[in-house]
Amino acid sequence: MRDFRQILTMLALALLPLFGLACGGGGSGAFTLTGLSLGEPASGKGSASGKGPASGGQVVRSDLAGLHTRWIPSAYFDRSMDYTGSRFRVLPLAQLVERFGDDATDAVVLDCFDDYEGLLPVADIRQHDLHLALELEIDPQFKRPGWLQPMLVVVPDGQDAPHQERYMTANIRALRFVKRSDYYAPIAGKLSSEEAVQSGFSFFTDNCLFCHGLEGVGGNKGTRLLRAFDYKKNTGRERFENAFKAFHHPGNPDKQNMEQFLTDGSLGRVAAFLSALQ
Ligand code: HEC
Repeated sequence: MRDFRQILTMLALALLPLFGLACGGGGSGAFTLTGLSLGEPASGKGSASGKGPASGGQVVRSDLAGLHTRWIPSAYFDRSMDYTGSRFRVLPLAQLVERFGDDATDAVVLDCFDDYEGLLPVADIRQHDLHLALELEIDPQFKRPGWLQPMLVVVPDGQDAPHQERYMTANIRALRFVKRSDYYAPIAGKLSSEEAVQSGFSFFTDNCLFCHGLEGVGGNKGTRLLRAFDYKKNTGRERFENAFKAFHHPGNPDKQNMEQFLTDGSLGRVAAFLSALQ
């Protein structure tokens, strides 16, 4: 187990039926990310160019030097990790949106060192007063896994944010301030308006894209799904579903328990969506 977010994903996914797919992702966002987690925003996407730092629309740790920080606890974090007494040196993310975003910014892309790429809606940042930790202190009695590194997203005390893995994203290398419809445009632009395709797209962006990138958008931890299977053929779809089951099953402690998605038809819609991109 090397990935903090994977635990959280298990948690989040277990709770999804309760909370619904609250990920703001939905079908709207977009943006032209060329190089996966290294991607620079392509021109014309109206992100953090004007007020932003020099690093091509990306905000990295050194860009935050000199901003006012403070130390806070996070019961949300401690509960999720089964720790006590953790402390974080933080900045309010809303402040960073003001500073580095522009009028069109409605999401923050979290590029992680481990090829995970999260998307945090600005609405969530505001609603739960999400912060960004530049440093963390964990009580030495707890074994801190190697991947639990700043920068990371922190839910401050007093917020009743539901369990969402994106509220615990760690090991962040850079932030990008984007418009969701731009971020998802390389994918969305290739889709028909067919219901199964659109709902598969929405489901995929909420649950899969941060690890399985497509068309240069998203993370790069999981298999390249467009190359691995032929979704136009029934046999290909079957192989896809079987491979999914073989990997994302509850007995795999390192991976997400996503088996629920097999029973509710979501995976079939994902296949329809992936087929539209092939
Ligand atoms: C936290 C990261 C993560 C998330 C989220 C995730 N996956 Fe995966 N997935 C992986 C990794 C890692 C592998 C294994 C890659 C390998 O074996 O090299 C994998 C493997 C798979 C495989 C098997 C591929 C093969 O060739 O055997 C399928 C199919 C798959 N994922 C589909 C999905 C779908 C659909 C979703 C969303 C419902 C999803 N995954 C969400 C990380 C993730």
